[in-house]
Amino acid sequence: MAGSIFGNMFRVSTWGESHGPAVGAVVDGVPAGLALCEEDIQVYLNRRRPGQGRLSTARQEADQVQILSGVFEGKTTGTPISLVVWNKDQRSKDYSNIKDCYRPGHADFGFDQKYGFRDYRGGGRSSGRETIGRVAAGAIAARLLSEMGIQLAARVTEMGGVALPEGTDPFSVTARQLSVDPVDSVGGVVECRATGVPAGIGEPVFDKLDARLAAAMLSIGAVKGVEFGEGFHAARLKGSENNDAFVPGAEEESGKVIDGDGPVEAKKIGKKTNHAGGILGGMSDGSEIVLRVAFKPTPSISLPQETVNRDGEPITLTISGRHDMSVVPRAAVVVECMTALVLADLMAENMSARLDAWKKIYG
Ligand SMILES: Cc1cc2nc3c(=O)[nH]c(=O)nc-3n(C[C@H](O)[C@H](O)[C@H](O)COP(=O)(O)O)c2cc1C
Repeated sequence: MAGSIFGNMFRVSTWGESHGPAVGAVVDGVPAGLALCEEDIQVYLNRRRPGQGRLSTARQEADQVQILSGVFEGKTTGTPISLVVWNKDQRSKDYSNIKDCYRPGHADFGFDQKYGFRDYRGGGRSSGRETIGRVAAGAIAARLLSEMGIQLAARVTEMGGVALPEGTDPFSVTARQLSVDPVDSVGGVVECRATGVPAGIGEPVFDKLDARLAAAMLSIGAVKGVEFGEGFHAARLKGSENNDAFVPGAEEESGKVIDGDGPVEAKKIGKKTNHAGGILGGMSDGSEIVLRVAFKPTPSISLPQETVNRDGEPITLTISGRHDMSVVPRAAVVVECMTALVLADLMAENMSARLDAWKKIYG
């Protein structure tokens, strides 16, 4: 299937179906010498694992990652890193009732129209399990970014229209707290913040940092919207309210800038506010990058639904099997990892943007 490769220089290819033998990723472009072990990746995978909370699917899987290549004696070798997670709890027969019909809110109809054939077992490539490959790869990107002092943190800020105070464990939120029927599903919002990103990351036209982040987020299943900083609220502000004033500031208080022949004074420049969410003109401005991602309610619900079969005849569908009532608790780490992948990729690209950088290596 086309469209499974992401990134130009820090490049990820995800593979596998939810009910096939395994899912995983191949990551190319990781520099040699990065200390990396399976546990570095596992801690990220554990954050998206099913069966953690009351709103989560009952499907129990260890989701243990195995590094098959690209790491030797605890360090990356600069060659492709192949990652695998074996599927252990497929139970394909749970999905036999959806084989010949189109589940509302799912990709089934599109797959049949496009390919004339589909893997009906739990969504195949459109399953939430595809995100395992992204998370495993993103964990490596995050590990690389941390070497540069860049930290990422995503959290669920809203579920079912209810704002969650900072520190709330989204896995522990109950249907009752959200005033919803437990057999129905809810959407939510994930916010991701990246600190320590130097100014100047992102390419000014088609590969703007916000454009690449938006594409990354919208490639995640169930994502319906992305905003940066003030986002849609900026449309309701005046220029005088939305512009972030530049101010002189001590180096440590202002944004990070890349060393080189650029405006050295920029090191002493900060911003009074951050309505822009850390991105101006498609390039990071040195302040915190702030993005929010809107997820729709989980399409699989236990309530009877109106749909049609492959012959176009109307039927009533009741979906059995195990499904997340809300995907957002598990999706937060996916948002964080996709952010890491975009930053690692654009930072790799940015290394060749200046002559002095070329001279440092080749001069
Ligand atoms: C981490 C994650 C887990 C998901 N788990 C489920 C699930 O258990 N049940 C479900 O119906 N959809 C789940 N989804 C969403 C579907 O994969 C997605 O809505 C569906 O493929 C249709 O694609 P679209 O919503 O992007 O149009 C999950 C998505 C993510 C990111």
